[in-house]
Amino acid sequence: MAIIPDETPTTKLLISSLLLTTFIAISSTAAFAFLFFSSAAVNHHHHHDRPPNRTAARETQSSSRDPNLLRWVPIRGSWICPENYCAHYNGSVPFEDRVDTVLNYFDLPIDEMPVFMMLYFEDPNHQGHMVGPDHPRITKSVKNIDRMIGRLIDGLEKRSVFQDVTIIMVGDHGMVGTCDKKYIYLDDLGSWIEIPEEWVQSVGPVLSIRPPSDRSVSEVVAKMNEGLRSGKVKNGDKLRVYRKEDLPERLHYSGSERIPPIIGLVEEGFKIELKDLGNPECAGAHGYDNAFFSMRTIFIGHGPRFARGRKVPTFENVEIYNLITSILGINGAPNNGSSSFAKTMLLPHNHH
Ligand SMILES: *[C@@H]1O[C@H](CO)[C@@H](O)[C@H](O)[C@H]1NC(C)=O
Ligand SMILES: *[C@@H]1O[C@H](CO)[C@@H](O)[C@H](O)[C@H]1NC(C)=O
Ligand SMILES: *[C@@H]1O[C@H](CO)[C@@H](O)[C@H](O)[C@H]1NC(C)=O
Ligand SMILES: [Zn+2]
Repeated sequence: MAIIPDETPTTKLLISSLLLTTFIAISSTAAFAFLFFSSAAVNHHHHHDRPPNRTAARETQSSSRDPNLLRWVPIRGSWICPENYCAHYNGSVPFEDRVDTVLNYFDLPIDEMPVFMMLYFEDPNHQGHMVGPDHPRITKSVKNIDRMIGRLIDGLEKRSVFQDVTIIMVGDHGMVGTCDKKYIYLDDLGSWIEIPEEWVQSVGPVLSIRPPSDRSVSEVVAKMNEGLRSGKVKNGDKLRVYRKEDLPERLHYSGSERIPPIIGLVEEGFKIELKDLGNPECAGAHGYDNAFFSMRTIFIGHGPRFARGRKVPTFENVEIYNLITSILGINGAPNNGSSSFAKTMLLPHNHH
């Protein structure tokens, strides 16, 4: 859902278009949105009819505290960006400084100003993992992120560019509470099959297992499901194990060698662990089937190409790539967004 906030018109001083992407995920089972985790990008180029020639500022999206991000692998291809524009991720940099780094790019001479900027905040994802999405600490964290967005907007207004800047705020996932002892322990499957720790690549909301090559994947899957359906394993009926090629097609989760051959899907809010080590009873997680409403996030677009106050129907985040390349007027790489999406979302170019 996109909500383009109303704002007071100011004079356009710069002929520039800028795109800022703040990734803000929301978690809520109710109709209203709850900011969750955020990361952001800003982008800008001087004329719509001239392809941008500068790519910049990237504070990358991996948080060492986030177990789901630990196994991210580098994106294929090269990232050519001058050192002073492309900071490596450093979770210790205060959020204020991150915002100010972006704002300072606007004070550079026009030909040194980056064309595309990204800002990333690891909150409230960070708190969400520890206390679940419904805790007052999350409200506090959301307030703080809101303050950062305010700082950014104020800084842009001070420079009289806010109206000409394109800003996209988007989250990469939602969050759901995992309270009430919703655990499934692989240890409990021992009577059907032993799952050595070395086979297990991930636990939590997504189970992934890579058995040694001399073991039959189908047999492991069958034995596990037999145990899970026996009625003798705690919460066993909440976990279903698949050969990755048998997963529902809509998940698009079989095409890569990096995906282990066995994947387990759990019901919303449940978690898989190797064994009972006395886990906290109330925490939060994401990574569940994206069909769950709690895994959804928000999208907010601001700028010359977004109609004010317009709401659009729900869409998948894979569409955002083409939206950005359309705004920038560049040819993107092949991707899984639909080519017509940007047209349905954006206003036509406004030639000054
Ligand atoms: C970008 O601009 C610089 C000079 O301003 C030029 O040397 C360089 O070739 C340009 N790069 C591209 C990809 O056009
Ligand atoms: C990360 O940021 C902190 C705070 O600005 C700084 O003190 C530290 O040196 C940085 N670490 C690296 C590896 O750059
Ligand atoms: C996603 O896009 C890539 C690159 O174009 C393509 O190879 C792949 O088949 C696409 N996947 C789906 C499910 O459309
Ligand atoms: Zn997370």
